[in-house]
Amino acid sequence: MSIFSFICLFSFTGSTSVNHVFVQTGEDLILNLTEVTTAQNSDLWLWQFNGKAWVKCSPPSPPIVKETHTGRIEVLEKTYNVKLKNLHKSDSGIYTARSVQPKDQKLTEYNVTVQDPVSQPDLYIDSVSSSSSSCNFTATCRTEDSSIRSSIRCDNKICHQDEGKRSVVTQSGASLHMFLSYSSIICNSSNQVSWSEKIVEIQHFCRHCSNKFKVQHCGPITTNTSSESVVLFCCCTALKHHI
Ligand SMILES: *[C@@H]1O[C@H](CO)[C@@H](O)[C@H](O)[C@H]1NC(C)=O
Ligand SMILES: *[C@@H]1O[C@H](CO)[C@@H](O)[C@H](O)[C@H]1NC(C)=O
Ligand SMILES: *[C@@H]1O[C@H](CO)[C@@H](O)[C@H](O)[C@H]1NC(C)=O
Ligand SMILES: *[C@@H]1O[C@H](CO)[C@@H](O)[C@H](O)[C@H]1NC(C)=O
Ligand SMILES: *[C@@H]1O[C@H](CO)[C@@H](O)[C@H](O)[C@H]1NC(C)=O
Repeated sequence: MSIFSFICLFSFTGSTSVNHVFVQTGEDLILNLTEVTTAQNSDLWLWQFNGKAWVKCSPPSPPIVKETHTGRIEVLEKTYNVKLKNLHKSDSGIYTARSVQPKDQKLTEYNVTVQDPVSQPDLYIDSVSSSSSSCNFTATCRTEDSSIRSSIRCDNKICHQDEGKRSVVTQSGASLHMFLSYSSIICNSSNQVSWSEKIVEIQHFCRHCSNKFKVQHCGPITTNTSSESVVLFCCCTALKHHI
Protein backbone atom coordinates (compact mmCIF):
# COMPACT_ATOMS: atom_id res chain seq x y z
CA MET A 1 0.00 0.00 0.00
CA SER A 2 1.41 3.34 -0.94
CA ILE A 3 1.01 6.46 1.09
CA PHE A 4 -1.46 7.66 -1.56
CA SER A 5 -4.04 4.94 -1.11
CA PHE A 6 -5.85 6.59 1.76
CA ILE A 7 -7.36 9.36 -0.35
CA CYS A 8 -10.05 6.98 -1.61
CA LEU A 9 -11.67 7.24 1.80
CA PHE A 10 -12.60 10.86 1.36
CA SER A 11 -15.46 12.22 -0.64
CA PHE A 12 -15.04 15.72 -1.91
CA THR A 13 -17.14 18.69 -2.70
CA GLY A 14 -16.04 21.75 -4.55
CA SER A 15 -17.30 24.54 -6.73
CA THR A 16 -14.21 25.86 -8.52
CA SER A 17 -14.78 26.33 -12.25
CA VAL A 18 -12.84 24.08 -14.63
CA ASN A 19 -10.09 25.63 -16.71
CA HIS A 20 -9.82 23.91 -20.07
CA VAL A 21 -6.22 23.68 -21.27
CA PHE A 22 -4.96 22.28 -24.59
CA VAL A 23 -1.33 21.20 -24.93
CA GLN A 24 0.66 19.80 -27.81
CA THR A 25 2.11 16.31 -27.37
CA GLY A 26 5.66 16.47 -26.05
CA GLU A 27 5.30 19.92 -24.50
CA ASP A 28 5.45 20.86 -20.81
CA LEU A 29 2.59 22.43 -18.86
CA ILE A 30 2.56 24.42 -15.65
CA LEU A 31 -0.59 24.06 -13.57
CA ASN A 32 -1.02 26.93 -11.16
CA LEU A 33 -2.31 26.54 -7.66
CA THR A 34 -4.62 29.53 -7.26
CA GLU A 35 -5.39 29.21 -3.54
CA VAL A 36 -1.85 29.11 -2.20
CA THR A 37 -2.75 30.49 1.23
CA THR A 38 -5.44 27.88 1.79
CA ALA A 39 -2.95 25.17 0.81
CA GLN A 40 -0.28 26.58 3.10
CA ASN A 41 -2.71 26.73 6.01
CA SER A 42 -4.08 23.23 5.53
CA ASP A 43 -2.72 20.16 7.33
CA LEU A 44 -2.93 18.13 4.15
CA TRP A 45 -3.48 19.03 0.53
CA LEU A 46 -3.08 17.14 -2.76
CA TRP A 47 -2.62 17.43 -6.50
CA GLN A 48 -4.72 14.76 -8.19
CA PHE A 49 -5.05 13.35 -11.69
CA ASN A 50 -8.49 11.86 -12.48
CA GLY A 51 -9.13 11.59 -8.75
CA LYS A 52 -5.83 9.89 -7.85
CA ALA A 53 -3.26 11.80 -5.84
CA TRP A 54 0.28 12.16 -7.15
CA VAL A 55 1.46 15.05 -5.01
CA LYS A 56 0.80 15.10 -1.29
CA CYS A 57 1.74 17.89 1.08
CA SER A 58 1.49 18.41 4.80
CA PRO A 59 2.87 21.92 5.39
CA PRO A 60 5.41 22.92 6.47
CA SER A 61 6.98 19.69 5.15
CA PRO A 62 7.88 19.87 1.47
CA PRO A 63 5.51 18.18 -1.05
CA ILE A 64 6.02 14.48 -1.80
CA VAL A 65 5.67 13.34 -5.41
CA LYS A 66 4.36 9.79 -5.96
CA GLU A 67 7.18 7.45 -7.06
CA THR A 68 5.52 6.65 -10.39
CA HIS A 69 5.53 10.34 -11.29
CA THR A 70 9.00 11.41 -10.20
CA GLY A 71 10.95 12.81 -13.13
CA ARG A 72 7.79 13.70 -15.02
CA ILE A 73 6.49 16.14 -12.45
CA GLU A 74 8.16 18.96 -10.62
CA VAL A 75 6.58 20.91 -7.79
CA LEU A 76 7.76 24.48 -8.07
CA GLU A 77 9.06 26.09 -4.92
CA LYS A 78 6.91 28.48 -2.87
CA THR A 79 3.98 28.57 -5.35
CA TYR A 80 3.26 24.80 -5.25
CA ASN A 81 2.52 25.05 -8.96
CA VAL A 82 3.34 21.81 -10.75
CA LYS A 83 5.26 21.41 -13.96
CA LEU A 84 4.15 18.40 -16.04
CA LYS A 85 6.90 17.40 -18.45
CA ASN A 86 6.77 15.86 -21.93
CA LEU A 87 3.01 15.31 -22.01
CA HIS A 88 1.47 12.32 -23.81
CA LYS A 89 -2.12 11.94 -24.97
CA SER A 90 -2.70 9.59 -22.04
CA ASP A 91 -1.98 12.52 -19.71
CA SER A 92 -5.28 14.11 -20.82
CA GLY A 93 -7.74 14.34 -17.97
CA ILE A 94 -8.82 16.28 -14.92
CA TYR A 95 -6.11 17.74 -12.70
CA THR A 96 -7.26 19.00 -9.34
CA ALA A 97 -5.56 20.62 -6.38
CA ARG A 98 -7.52 20.22 -3.15
CA SER A 99 -7.06 20.62 0.51
CA VAL A 100 -8.17 17.61 2.55
CA GLN A 101 -7.62 18.65 6.17
CA PRO A 102 -8.95 20.44 8.07
CA LYS A 103 -11.53 20.96 5.34
CA ASP A 104 -12.32 19.30 1.99
CA GLN A 105 -11.97 22.04 -0.55
CA LYS A 106 -11.20 22.11 -4.23
CA LEU A 107 -8.50 24.72 -4.81
CA THR A 108 -7.96 24.56 -8.57
CA GLU A 109 -9.21 22.35 -11.38
CA TYR A 110 -7.89 21.91 -14.93
CA ASN A 111 -9.30 19.85 -17.76
CA VAL A 112 -6.18 19.11 -19.81
CA THR A 113 -6.35 17.82 -23.39
CA VAL A 114 -3.10 16.73 -25.04
CA GLN A 115 -3.24 16.78 -28.85
CA ASP A 116 -0.88 15.92 -31.68
CA PRO A 117 -0.30 18.76 -34.12
CA VAL A 118 -2.32 18.42 -37.34
CA SER A 119 -0.57 17.29 -40.49
CA GLN A 120 -0.70 19.33 -43.68
CA PRO A 121 -3.88 18.71 -45.71
CA ASP A 122 -3.81 17.82 -49.41
CA LEU A 123 -5.57 20.01 -51.96
CA TYR A 124 -6.50 18.58 -55.37
CA ILE A 125 -8.00 20.31 -58.38
CA ASP A 126 -10.03 18.35 -60.91
CA SER A 127 -13.02 18.44 -63.29
CA VAL A 128 -11.69 21.51 -65.04
CA SER A 129 -13.83 22.96 -67.82
CA SER A 130 -13.30 26.27 -69.48
CA SER A 131 -14.57 28.60 -72.14
CA SER A 132 -13.37 32.02 -73.26
CA SER A 133 -15.05 33.78 -70.34
CA SER A 134 -15.40 31.13 -67.66
CA CYS A 135 -13.47 28.42 -65.94
CA ASN A 136 -15.08 25.87 -63.66
CA PHE A 137 -13.30 23.34 -61.54
CA THR A 138 -13.57 21.30 -58.38
CA ALA A 139 -11.26 21.55 -55.40
CA THR A 140 -10.93 18.76 -52.86
CA CYS A 141 -9.25 19.25 -49.53
CA ARG A 142 -8.31 16.09 -47.70
CA THR A 143 -6.77 14.88 -44.45
CA GLU A 144 -6.33 11.23 -43.37
CA ASP A 145 -9.86 10.98 -42.01
CA SER A 146 -11.89 13.67 -43.73
CA SER A 147 -12.41 15.71 -46.89
CA ILE A 148 -14.36 18.64 -48.35
CA ARG A 149 -15.18 19.02 -52.02
CA SER A 150 -16.21 22.34 -53.45
CA SER A 151 -17.08 23.60 -56.93
CA ILE A 152 -15.54 26.86 -57.98
CA ARG A 153 -16.83 28.93 -60.83
CA CYS A 154 -14.88 31.78 -62.40
CA ASP A 155 -17.09 33.96 -64.61
CA ASN A 156 -15.83 37.11 -66.15
CA LYS A 157 -12.69 37.08 -63.98
CA ILE A 158 -14.57 36.64 -60.71
CA CYS A 159 -14.41 33.34 -58.86
CA HIS A 160 -17.07 32.03 -56.52
CA GLN A 161 -17.03 29.02 -54.27
CA ASP A 162 -20.36 27.20 -54.32
CA GLU A 163 -22.62 27.21 -51.31
CA GLY A 164 -22.50 23.92 -49.48
CA LYS A 165 -20.00 22.61 -47.01
CA ARG A 166 -16.90 24.73 -46.59
CA SER A 167 -15.81 23.21 -43.33
CA VAL A 168 -16.05 19.92 -41.48
CA VAL A 169 -14.92 18.61 -38.13
CA THR A 170 -12.85 15.44 -38.56
CA GLN A 171 -13.07 12.29 -36.45
CA SER A 172 -9.89 13.26 -34.63
CA GLY A 173 -11.45 16.58 -33.62
CA ALA A 174 -9.59 18.75 -36.11
CA SER A 175 -11.42 21.25 -38.33
CA LEU A 176 -10.99 21.38 -42.07
CA HIS A 177 -11.88 24.64 -43.81
CA MET A 178 -11.63 25.51 -47.51
CA PHE A 179 -12.02 29.02 -48.83
CA LEU A 180 -10.97 31.48 -51.54
CA SER A 181 -8.57 34.23 -50.60
CA TYR A 182 -7.01 36.71 -52.99
CA SER A 183 -5.80 34.65 -55.92
CA SER A 184 -5.73 31.36 -54.05
CA ILE A 185 -7.73 28.45 -52.78
CA ILE A 186 -6.76 27.73 -49.19
CA CYS A 187 -7.35 24.56 -47.25
CA ASN A 188 -6.76 24.95 -43.53
CA SER A 189 -6.65 22.05 -41.11
CA SER A 190 -6.58 23.02 -37.44
CA ASN A 191 -7.08 21.78 -33.92
CA GLN A 192 -6.68 23.59 -30.59
CA VAL A 193 -2.88 23.40 -30.61
CA SER A 194 -1.88 23.81 -34.26
CA TRP A 195 -2.93 24.55 -37.80
CA SER A 196 -1.55 23.76 -41.22
CA GLU A 197 -2.64 24.98 -44.64
CA LYS A 198 -2.21 24.07 -48.27
CA ILE A 199 -2.56 26.83 -50.85
CA VAL A 200 -3.14 26.52 -54.58
CA GLU A 201 -2.81 29.64 -56.69
CA ILE A 202 -5.70 29.94 -59.13
CA GLN A 203 -3.49 31.81 -61.58
CA HIS A 204 -1.10 28.89 -61.73
CA PHE A 205 -3.92 26.53 -62.18
CA CYS A 206 -5.72 28.74 -64.69
CA ARG A 207 -3.03 27.92 -67.23
CA HIS A 208 -4.39 24.44 -67.32
CA CYS A 209 -7.93 25.53 -68.03
CA SER A 210 -7.34 24.61 -71.61
CA ASN A 211 -4.38 24.58 -73.95
CA LYS A 212 -6.09 27.41 -75.82
CA PHE A 213 -5.50 29.73 -72.88
CA LYS A 214 -2.56 31.17 -71.11
CA VAL A 215 -2.07 33.56 -68.22
CA GLN A 216 -1.50 36.96 -69.72
CA HIS A 217 -1.35 39.38 -66.85
CA CYS A 218 -1.19 38.79 -63.14
CA GLY A 219 -2.59 41.32 -60.72
CA PRO A 220 -3.67 43.50 -59.15
CA ILE A 221 -5.94 41.08 -57.37
CA THR A 222 -8.69 42.18 -55.06
CA THR A 223 -10.96 40.26 -52.81
CA ASN A 224 -14.62 40.67 -52.11
CA THR A 225 -14.80 39.46 -48.53
CA SER A 226 -18.50 40.18 -48.16
CA SER A 227 -19.37 37.51 -50.71
CA GLU A 228 -16.30 35.29 -50.32
CA SER A 229 -15.44 35.70 -53.96
CA VAL A 230 -12.15 36.56 -55.57
CA VAL A 231 -11.77 39.13 -58.30
CA LEU A 232 -9.23 37.67 -60.63
CA PHE A 233 -7.50 40.12 -62.90
CA CYS A 234 -5.10 37.40 -63.77
CA CYS A 235 -7.00 35.16 -66.04
CA CYS A 236 -6.85 33.09 -69.11
CA THR A 237 -6.72 34.77 -72.47
CA ALA A 238 -7.06 33.07 -75.81
CA LEU A 239 -3.94 32.24 -77.77
CA LYS A 240 -3.97 32.90 -81.48
CA HIS A 241 -4.04 29.75 -83.46
CA HIS A 242 -1.26 29.29 -85.97
CA ILE A 243 -2.22 27.46 -89.04
C1 LIG B 1 0.15 29.45 -14.98
O1 LIG B 1 0.64 30.76 -14.84
C2 LIG B 1 1.61 31.11 -15.82
C3 LIG B 1 2.16 32.48 -15.46
O2 LIG B 1 1.13 33.38 -15.19
C4 LIG B 1 0.94 31.10 -17.19
O3 LIG B 1 1.89 31.42 -18.20
C5 LIG B 1 0.36 29.71 -17.45
O4 LIG B 1 -0.36 29.71 -18.69
C6 LIG B 1 -0.58 29.31 -16.32
N1 LIG B 1 -1.00 27.93 -16.53
C7 LIG B 1 -2.25 27.59 -16.86
C8 LIG B 1 -2.50 26.13 -17.09
O5 LIG B 1 -3.16 28.39 -16.99
C1 LIG C 1 -12.87 17.76 -20.31
O1 LIG C 1 -12.65 18.03 -21.69
C2 LIG C 1 -13.06 16.97 -22.53
C3 LIG C 1 -12.61 17.31 -23.95
O2 LIG C 1 -13.02 18.57 -24.36
C4 LIG C 1 -14.57 16.80 -22.40
O3 LIG C 1 -14.99 15.75 -23.24
C5 LIG C 1 -14.91 16.49 -20.96
O4 LIG C 1 -16.31 16.41 -20.81
C6 LIG C 1 -14.35 17.55 -20.03
N1 LIG C 1 -14.57 17.13 -18.65
C7 LIG C 1 -14.98 17.96 -17.70
C8 LIG C 1 -15.18 17.36 -16.36
O5 LIG C 1 -15.17 19.15 -17.91
C1 LIG D 1 -19.33 27.05 -65.73
O1 LIG D 1 -20.53 26.93 -64.95
C2 LIG D 1 -21.54 27.86 -65.32
C3 LIG D 1 -22.69 27.70 -64.34
O2 LIG D 1 -23.04 26.36 -64.21
C4 LIG D 1 -21.98 27.61 -66.75
O3 LIG D 1 -22.93 28.57 -67.13
C5 LIG D 1 -20.74 27.73 -67.67
O4 LIG D 1 -21.09 27.39 -69.00
C6 LIG D 1 -19.65 26.78 -67.21
N1 LIG D 1 -18.45 27.01 -68.01
C7 LIG D 1 -17.78 26.02 -68.53
C8 LIG D 1 -16.61 26.42 -69.36
O5 LIG D 1 -18.07 24.84 -68.40
C1 LIG E 1 -6.32 28.35 -39.89
O1 LIG E 1 -7.18 28.07 -38.76
C2 LIG E 1 -6.66 28.51 -37.51
C3 LIG E 1 -7.61 28.08 -36.42
O2 LIG E 1 -8.92 28.45 -36.71
C4 LIG E 1 -6.45 30.02 -37.53
O3 LIG E 1 -5.87 30.45 -36.31
C5 LIG E 1 -5.53 30.38 -38.69
O4 LIG E 1 -5.39 31.77 -38.78
C6 LIG E 1 -6.11 29.84 -39.99
N1 LIG E 1 -5.19 30.13 -41.09
C7 LIG E 1 -5.57 30.78 -42.19
C8 LIG E 1 -4.54 31.00 -43.21
O5 LIG E 1 -6.73 31.17 -42.30
C1 LIG F 1 -19.15 42.12 -53.32
O1 LIG F 1 -20.20 41.20 -53.08
C2 LIG F 1 -21.45 41.79 -52.73
C3 LIG F 1 -22.43 40.67 -52.38
O2 LIG F 1 -22.45 39.66 -53.35
C4 LIG F 1 -21.93 42.63 -53.93
O3 LIG F 1 -23.16 43.25 -53.60
C5 LIG F 1 -20.87 43.69 -54.25
O4 LIG F 1 -21.25 44.40 -55.40
C6 LIG F 1 -19.51 43.03 -54.48
N1 LIG F 1 -18.48 44.06 -54.64
C7 LIG F 1 -17.61 44.04 -55.66
C8 LIG F 1 -16.58 45.15 -55.65
O5 LIG F 1 -17.61 43.19 -56.54
